[in-house]
Amino acid sequence: MKKIEDFEIKGDIAVSVKEMNLYYGSFHALRSIYMDFPVKKLTALIGPSGCGKSTLIKSLNRMNDLVEGCKITGEIKVGNTNIYDKKCDLPRLRKNVGMVFQRPNPLAMSVYDNVAYGPRTFGIRKKDELDSIVEHSLKGAAMWEEVKDRLNKSALGLSGGQQQRLCIARALAVQPQILLMDEPTSALDPISTGKIEELCMELKKDMTVIMVTHNMQQAFRIADYTAYFLLGEMIEMDETKKIFSSPVDKRTDDYINGRFG
Ligand SMILES: Nc1ncnc2c1ncn2[C@@H]1O[C@H](COP(=O)(O)OP(=O)(O)O)[C@@H](O)[C@H]1O
Ligand SMILES: [Mg+2]
Repeated sequence: MKKIEDFEIKGDIAVSVKEMNLYYGSFHALRSIYMDFPVKKLTALIGPSGCGKSTLIKSLNRMNDLVEGCKITGEIKVGNTNIYDKKCDLPRLRKNVGMVFQRPNPLAMSVYDNVAYGPRTFGIRKKDELDSIVEHSLKGAAMWEEVKDRLNKSALGLSGGQQQRLCIARALAVQPQILLMDEPTSALDPISTGKIEELCMELKKDMTVIMVTHNMQQAFRIADYTAYFLLGEMIEMDETKKIFSSPVDKRTDDYINGRFG
């Protein structure tokens, strides 16, 4: 197997965004964004619908490359690697910066094959090696006990909450340094949501987690840092307790206290 290297991350900052602007054609969707995402912390991105949260999080692993007419200026670094540099290797980026989406999107294959998918694309073929990755990843996503007897059954037969944890296991299987999650619980019931929130608290012990949520209580419960977005601008980012108790910007205060819109 061709070894895919991690990004070198020295110091406290896993991802840094500087003077970043993003355009969809002539629409200026993100304006002069500066943000530092601390290592092995959970940072939540909050703000009203359409303010650019998904656009920002997708930029962190170049998912916007697929969007026609999308143009990005400025700098985004993972560790000390500029990910928009021509020399940046996309498979390396996608391996190290994993992503979980709003709707669970398991592949129409078995539970086992879903988790083994990433490792296989990176060249791991040996059965015992894959077995151990699958077990470890499902344990990491807190669902091994639930599915260990149905690994060969279709992933589509799982409940929504299980499917979302399976998607997390699939992301974990390639050992990302950073995990991006775009509203991972918005399609789930409260019990499944609670399980994913607990899981996120565990995951951040080993990796940097960046999560979009439209649920302010969720940010308050689980995020170390929270950033507030409005109309394509990052208004304010700070420790979660500071954002929720004494934000500096009046616009953040209005949003937190339900005086928005
Ligand atoms: N592929 C796209 N093409 C054109 N405009 C887009 C595209 N994706 C998002 N937008 C626009 O960019 C803005 C930010 O969208 P988005 O990042 O999805 O917001 P959020 O996730 O905060 O709800 C919105 O005005 C949205 O309509
Ligand atoms: Mg969104």
